[in-house]
Amino acid sequence: MTTGDTTERRRPVRLEADTAEHFEAITPASRRSVGDATAYLPGGDSRSTLFHPPYPLTFEEGHGCRVVDLDGNALLDFTGNHTSLVHGYGHPRVLEAVAGQLRRGTAFPGLTRAQAAFARQLCERIESLERVRFTSSGTEATLQAVRAARAYTGRHVVAKIEGGYNGSWDEMMVSIHPRVDQAGDRERPESVPASEGLTAGAASDVLVLPFNDEAATRRLLEDRGSSVAAVIVEPVLGSAGMIPAEPSYLRLLREVTSRMGIALIFDEVISFRVAHGGAQGHYGVRPDLTCLGKAIGGGFPLGVVGGRAEIMELFDPSGGQPRVPHPGSYNANPISLVAGSVTLELLTEEAVDHLNETGDALRSDLRDAFDEAGLPVQVTGLGSLFGIHFRPGPVRGYRDTLASDRGLRHRLFLGLVAEGVLIDPRGAGCLSTATGQAELEAFSGAVRRVAPSLAGGDDHRIGEPPGPDAGRQG
Ligand SMILES: Cc1ncc(COP(=O)(O)O)c(C=O)c1O
Repeated sequence: MTTGDTTERRRPVRLEADTAEHFEAITPASRRSVGDATAYLPGGDSRSTLFHPPYPLTFEEGHGCRVVDLDGNALLDFTGNHTSLVHGYGHPRVLEAVAGQLRRGTAFPGLTRAQAAFARQLCERIESLERVRFTSSGTEATLQAVRAARAYTGRHVVAKIEGGYNGSWDEMMVSIHPRVDQAGDRERPESVPASEGLTAGAASDVLVLPFNDEAATRRLLEDRGSSVAAVIVEPVLGSAGMIPAEPSYLRLLREVTSRMGIALIFDEVISFRVAHGGAQGHYGVRPDLTCLGKAIGGGFPLGVVGGRAEIMELFDPSGGQPRVPHPGSYNANPISLVAGSVTLELLTEEAVDHLNETGDALRSDLRDAFDEAGLPVQVTGLGSLFGIHFRPGPVRGYRDTLASDRGLRHRLFLGLVAEGVLIDPRGAGCLSTATGQAELEAFSGAVRRVAPSLAGGDDHRIGEPPGPDAGRQG
């Protein structure tokens, strides 16, 4: 990690238009860097999520709410590494905790006090957590949660949300961004593999549910309920563009799953930040199991699976071979634990309230900015999370996002980079506690400058990324 605040000295580069050519003109070092990297890495990287045309940026530094790319462009960051950095880049308290742990040791063949301390902190903070276990990623957390639910219920089908991303293991790589011609009936979605190479049963073991459609979801679960082990759902559907669940939808899932003996898993890898006790606190719905990741590691790799003690007991090795073994060389890694623990400490009730109020104001300001430009845009989100959808009409689930104009969305992304602002190329983003009023104003000013150019002309598909959003989860 590089230190020294070089960001303040560098001015964002401003350009008048927002096409890929301009992006390339201001980022030649990033272009060369990707090109060089492809000699050794397929596509030049190890995270398929990050690719966007013409190429992703290479970053050198991040401080607070700013990142600096290889060309020295300073960008106001509204991604937080895709919602992982709730206090921005390099918060001094997080760095201090990590430095202390680095001196004491980075991994041990036994328990650490940091583990028990963080487990207690989580259980005291999130009501439904009676026991937790630590993994190295959100993917491993959802894998262990579903496996435990299967072992507990003796059933094998897992129900997931169409358009939801819950990690990259086989059954979760289903119906993430299905094409409309493959997705089937809106009220009875097909189970569509999102990758080649999945196990033969991956798609058939998944029941796909339409988000926020209560009648269809109830019907699908009641039809197949006796073989369903778990429903896994994000309270805010992240990958589809930060679409909040309607409160009655989560209540319906709780009612049906309880009645049918199905484990309800909340994937709060993204949504945890919306309330002090997680989105489940905000909605007042208590899941059986919860998965955490991203922000919970304070910028380091960490996942959490936790919930009801009688399900979590399946992981207990103290009586011999556990019913669900959970090995992992870096499980509960102390560096990540201390970073996560300080991050949570800093994320007080007041900090969450402030983030949420700022998020409300930002979404409303973005709506005004697109309105002023005469663009039919829906701004979704909850708390400090936002999603931008170029379409008229409400966005309540994945199918609604299919009609949104990805060409415009991509031009917005490129235009904002030219203005010195970074969002997720999928038109989503988040705030961090490091984002101040001046940065918010800079963001909305940049949108006001870019949006009118999106509204004009019929060449708006210049730079449109090819195909659906395949590979753009996580
Ligand atoms: C909702 C959700 N669940 C699970 C995951 C997987 O987490 P990780 O990337 O740490 O494996 C992600 C990652 O983006 C996510 O957004």
